[in-house]
Amino acid sequence: MKAITYHHYGSADVLQLEELEKPIPKADEVLIKIKASTVNRTDCGFRNPEFQFIKLISGITAPKAKVLGSEFAGIIEAIGDKVTRYKMGDKVFGLSTYTFGTHAEYICKNENNSMAIMPNNYSFEEAAAVCDGLMLAYANIRKIDFSTPKNILINGATGAIGISALQLVKYFGATVTAVGNTKNLELLKSLGADKVIDYTAEDFTKTNEKYDVVFDAVGKSTFFKCIKLLKPKGVYFSTELGPYAQNIPLALFSSWFNGRQLKFPIPKDSREDIEFFKMIIEEGKYKAIIDRTYTLEQVPDAHRYVELGEKTGNVVIHN
Ligand SMILES: NC(=O)c1ccc[n+]([C@@H]2O[C@H](COP(=O)([O-])OP(=O)(O)OC[C@H]3O[C@@H](n4cnc5c(N)ncnc54)[C@H](OP(=O)(O)O)[C@@H]3O)[C@@H](O)[C@H]2O)c1
Repeated sequence: MKAITYHHYGSADVLQLEELEKPIPKADEVLIKIKASTVNRTDCGFRNPEFQFIKLISGITAPKAKVLGSEFAGIIEAIGDKVTRYKMGDKVFGLSTYTFGTHAEYICKNENNSMAIMPNNYSFEEAAAVCDGLMLAYANIRKIDFSTPKNILINGATGAIGISALQLVKYFGATVTAVGNTKNLELLKSLGADKVIDYTAEDFTKTNEKYDVVFDAVGKSTFFKCIKLLKPKGVYFSTELGPYAQNIPLALFSSWFNGRQLKFPIPKDSREDIEFFKMIIEEGKYKAIIDRTYTLEQVPDAHRYVELGEKTGNVVIHN
């Protein structure tokens, strides 16, 4: 089968098209013919780690997983003897977060891994373009108590995580201020933002409004710049570690800040969460946003675009 591999860390030039053995499913696995995947910021971060500690996971001297790609949508082409959840021909979507491998024509997944039958109202391209952003956003949003009304600000609301966060908190009934650039303000309103801030014209940290939650989905602010925006007991989330990785100690000691807290949950995926994503998609409460589409052979170009940090939503690869 065709796959895009990398054997060394570095720029997108390390990625190459390679012929690999087609995988064979074990007894509890399914073989998926991948119809669509994505290139996301995690792929770029594992190809060329900014922080050396990433290599403790990805491989000290060279990458352990030779094929990147963490999202997929496809068709089950073969099943192991013990598989009960799926049958041949099922259309599935999901995540391959820590093992990667979706920039290929085929992948084998354990039937209990983070995947589900595809939403019935989605194309393969749309189904591939939702799970990573949703999983990373939901890791934070599930820490919010929605039993009382919440006023939430999302910075970087136009990225894969931000667009997911915006739609998820609207699903849970929050009032949302979304921060993005000029060209995307109408998109943010169409996805449910009650108020928008154009970051090219206004610094959101200077607003006088008070929020229950500030979620910096692009990690460009800091807890200290946002603390004055938080109501008493307000929570700040960020997708980045912050200057000098300050968000880790701050998450441990933020009870010192007069009830205002920084939370930095470790994201993890599950089959149950993918089922939840499928449900909100089929209810018409979640829209996949696709910026650009590339072929498998063009994955290096997709990396070059994604690592600019300027995409709106997701970049899809179709096989
Ligand atoms: N915690 C984790 O496990 C984890 C995992 C993956 C990624 N991340 C991090 O999470 C962040 C977001 O990821 P993503 O996948 O959503 O990124 P993305 O899809 O590349 O989106 C980033 C978005 O932020 C916008 N943006 C850029 N500068 C901005 C600014 N100053 N203010 C507001 N918006 C701005 C960009 O649009 P314009 O440039 O057009 O404005 C773009 O739409 C990245 O920093 C990434 O490294 C964290």
